[in-house]
Amino acid sequence: MSVKVISSKLLLPCAVALAAMPGAQAAPPAGQLLAAQCAQCHGTNGNGPGFDEVAGKSASELRKDLLEMKRRPVENIMDRQARGYTDSQIQLIADYLAAHSGGDH
Ligand code: HEC
Repeated sequence: MSVKVISSKLLLPCAVALAAMPGAQAAPPAGQLLAAQCAQCHGTNGNGPGFDEVAGKSASELRKDLLEMKRRPVENIMDRQARGYTDSQIQLIADYLAAHSGGDH
């Protein structure tokens, strides 16, 4: 009797997890998730308020800035931030911010 009770309790989370899997397709794009980590210092989508402007930069400028920060010796906050991402993550962040910053949130 008690075994049956336990097993039905264990099965429920499994069923919930399986049901949730197709929902993964509806997750926000990777660039949005990665760029969310910049918001604490640069505002949502880089639109401020916050430290230096991210809004208004093109994807290639952002990518160049971040790669430079990542490779130069650590001197300031951004040099440490940039080291947290692979080059392809930096590309995703740059593409996302360039498309979404600039005042329209
Ligand atoms: C902990 C706070 C913090 C976080 C998080 C942060 N930044 Fe910064 N960022 C700064 C500060 C401070 C500066 C200005 C001084 C410097 O370069 O360190 C800056 C400067 C910049 C600049 C240069 C702007 C200019 O015009 O010179 C860019 C581009 C930038 N950040 C992008 C990003 C991106 C993209 C992320 C997310 C991956 C991010 N930052 C996360 C604090 C942060």
